[in-house]
Amino acid sequence: MTKWSPNSWRDKPISQVPSYPDAAALKEVEGRLATFPPLVFAGEARKLKKQLATVAAGDAFLLQGGDCAESFAEHGADNIRDFFRVFLQMAVVMTFAGSQPVVKIGRVAGQFAKPRSADTETRDGVTLPSYRGDIINGTSFDEKARVPDPARQEMAYRQSAATLNLLRAFAQGGYASLENVHKWMLGFVSDSPQAEKYESLANRITETMEFMRAVGITSESNFALRETDFYTSHEALLLGYEEALTRVDSTSGDWYATSGHMIWIGDRTRQPDHAHVEYARGIKNPLGLKCGPSLEPDGLLRLIDTLNPENEPGRLTLIARFGADKVADHLPKLIRAVKKAGRSVVWSCDPMHGNTVTAAGYKTRPFDRILKEVQGFFEVHHAEGTHPGGIHIEMTGKNVTECTGGARAITAENLQDRYHTHCDPRLNADQSIELAFLVSDLLKKSGTRQAHTQAAE
Ligand code: PEP
Ligand code: CO
Repeated sequence: MTKWSPNSWRDKPISQVPSYPDAAALKEVEGRLATFPPLVFAGEARKLKKQLATVAAGDAFLLQGGDCAESFAEHGADNIRDFFRVFLQMAVVMTFAGSQPVVKIGRVAGQFAKPRSADTETRDGVTLPSYRGDIINGTSFDEKARVPDPARQEMAYRQSAATLNLLRAFAQGGYASLENVHKWMLGFVSDSPQAEKYESLANRITETMEFMRAVGITSESNFALRETDFYTSHEALLLGYEEALTRVDSTSGDWYATSGHMIWIGDRTRQPDHAHVEYARGIKNPLGLKCGPSLEPDGLLRLIDTLNPENEPGRLTLIARFGADKVADHLPKLIRAVKKAGRSVVWSCDPMHGNTVTAAGYKTRPFDRILKEVQGFFEVHHAEGTHPGGIHIEMTGKNVTECTGGARAITAENLQDRYHTHCDPRLNADQSIELAFLVSDLLKKSGTRQAHTQAAE
């Protein structure tokens, strides 16, 4: 393999790049970013990789989620807090049901750049560059907003730093204590139209907490109940920005992306000899790889060879995103190839990107399709004897109306009420927690199955 450097991707073919009209201005911004402090540290990325290795071994579950695209307009403390709150409630429900640690990774503090199906968009005879995420251009349909502007990269960097700062404070300052999360969860359950369905799990968590308190295990006495490990991730799409934040770790001498703890390669930019794979192979962070219906076993094994040649557990998370009707056809052959080749990976399920439809003029995702893909993912793993390692979702802490269905049954007609996403439709707060309860049933079943297999051995 040829020598890697943070800019070796520049010699490869590349898809999904914006065309900046002012190359000198772009260079200047990238040069400045390269002098800015890292957002995350190599040691944190290593710690996350170790936790992901436990997922690969079948001893933990991964929850990864957040906005499809973060936006400059919605950079408020409330947004970040509400997201974090819902995310932690999901994690607690899953931890309890699966009796396993849940590794928590947000699509946050850097998730700005978007791949698009077309380079341009035409409305009423006017053609402009497509919106590619706030780090590149603006959403409004006018020439000024749509021309890629390098200054946006500095804004994205600063927004990521501020978001990360607040998340770190929440995660470590007591806000994320188990008691708090439990209280929020009880609020959700009592307000839910399907309260009975969730009550028994919620009551069991309450009893467990009361027992722990009785024996003296409280968040005052135990930091694990008071603090939580929370990591950031995004699609490493805008490679000039990523390169500027790629730094040598002084402890190990290795290169790390310092724009987020984990980065992933999108389904549209995973060509094995192209720029995005080239960039990712040289950094030591944990990596995600989106696996869509066009990925065949040989292609996947080639990518695994490039991205994880030493077969390091925790390095690579394969994020399957086939669609509810396709998962049973596509996933087994990939799992078998990976197993046969003896490769260690985390298998995660993105039930969002293969289930997008149009209703009442909006891009939406039916909640039952999302659930069906997750169920299909678990079923395939049970049949193959492998670990359904995690889920990867697009969600928000707000009560938006972007995906149809759920316990509060959002209809196609409701979509116009609070459709706020800058890109793909997200699960709202209620739908996210509901999904966590439904996944918890699947986790419980896999736990029972595992116990039976062990007993039979
Ligand atoms: C995304 O995760 O927002 C995305 C664009 O996904 P994919 O690359 O799987 O289409
Ligand atoms: Co998306």
